[in-house]
Amino acid sequence: MSAVRQGFSSRIGFIFAAAGSAVGVGNIWGFPTQAAQNGGGAFLLVYLVMVVILAYPMLVAELAIGRLTKRNPVASLRALGESPRWQKMGALVGVLGIVALSLILSFYAIISGWLVAFMAAPIFSLLGMESIANWLMEFSTSRNLIMMLLFLVLTIKVVGRGVANGIERWSSRLMPLLFALLLLMTAYILTLPGAMVGLEMYLVPDFSQVMNPDLIVSAMGQAFFSLSIGVCALMVYGSYLNSEDNLPRTAAVVAGLDTSVAFLAGLLILPAMFVAQNNGVQIYTPEGSLLSSDTLVFTVLPAMFDVIGTAGSILAIGFFALMVIAALTSAISMLEAPVNTLTEETELPRSRAVWVVGGAVAIVASIIVLNFNSLFGLVVTLTTVYAQPLLALVFGLMLTWVLRRDRLLQTMKEGNPELTEGVFWKIWPWYVKFVCPLMMLLVFFY
Ligand code: PHE
Repeated sequence: MSAVRQGFSSRIGFIFAAAGSAVGVGNIWGFPTQAAQNGGGAFLLVYLVMVVILAYPMLVAELAIGRLTKRNPVASLRALGESPRWQKMGALVGVLGIVALSLILSFYAIISGWLVAFMAAPIFSLLGMESIANWLMEFSTSRNLIMMLLFLVLTIKVVGRGVANGIERWSSRLMPLLFALLLLMTAYILTLPGAMVGLEMYLVPDFSQVMNPDLIVSAMGQAFFSLSIGVCALMVYGSYLNSEDNLPRTAAVVAGLDTSVAFLAGLLILPAMFVAQNNGVQIYTPEGSLLSSDTLVFTVLPAMFDVIGTAGSILAIGFFALMVIAALTSAISMLEAPVNTLTEETELPRSRAVWVVGGAVAIVASIIVLNFNSLFGLVVTLTTVYAQPLLALVFGLMLTWVLRRDRLLQTMKEGNPELTEGVFWKIWPWYVKFVCPLMMLLVFFY
């Protein structure tokens, strides 16, 4: 283990970084398109319930595991058990989490590469370099590979600079910019003709859908993905957290920020779709269902930007810049967990570990690009639909069943000495121990 462990320099720095991890493509693209396909306001409602009753308690658990030992995820999970058998189990769970996270990064880097391409294309177009712009916007193996690599190198550069100088500094710069861009874009789109139809679709719940099993499972998956739960990304950030920080409160701020951005993004994307329709762009399939989500971001919106003309190009650059920022701060957190584990478990310096992990992810991502049709969807489903909820569940169980209760209380009390007097401590431990597993089983079998 390295002698001096790095950490965030301030609580607000942690919040920017953790919110940066949580706020990603999942919020700005995933959430609004899922809402559009699942009854608008009904999805929003179920999503909010899922965040409060499942995702938030598990987020506190994951951060607590990290802060308990202030070590990498594998070491942290190992340290929860007293007996060698539990320690081995813990380490295994940690390794699985890191592997799942690295796989998430490999498909995330591909999507992020497209986003970078779509951000750059209108710039080249404005400069009159149409052939480059066209290459950037066409789905080709060369574009997919090169842009994915470019995005990964950017991520590696930030993480290579360390926790405070790289991750915290860049998250603190980029997150306020993201908020500002999102607000500006939303305000503008809402003034365009057609926007109100989308707004209505988003905000008025179709209550007949609320109990729809598909909707409930999608909302749960979306909540876990959006809050980066179950794959050690926030566990490693938790391990850099100070002993003075109040965990339940800090986690609530992060969950609140993440949910607000998802909600705001819905105010941008759904109205934008109907603005596009107003401009003659098709947004429904002939069967009457909404076009699938990737078409939406990479076809419908660009088509609308095209119709608007020069202002549209600027809008397009702004919109994809927003997505790239969101993607970058999330990708940083995905790279950090394996990098931290490698540096602490093998004493490899960070400057090398980032390239080792980043290189491995680049290889896996290239394999996915080269076998796109058979692998892409598979990796997404395997990691986000199965691995994230299951591993999150195991983290919660390890914390509440395997860890001695006095050690759990001790870590939860750090930065929060009145813990045992409040309601949180009366509910949370048994809630994570019994209710969360039961609810998740229910959702899975439902
Ligand atoms: N929460 C991120 C998003 O919404 C994705 C993510 C998943 C980040 C898992 C880290 C770990 O896009």
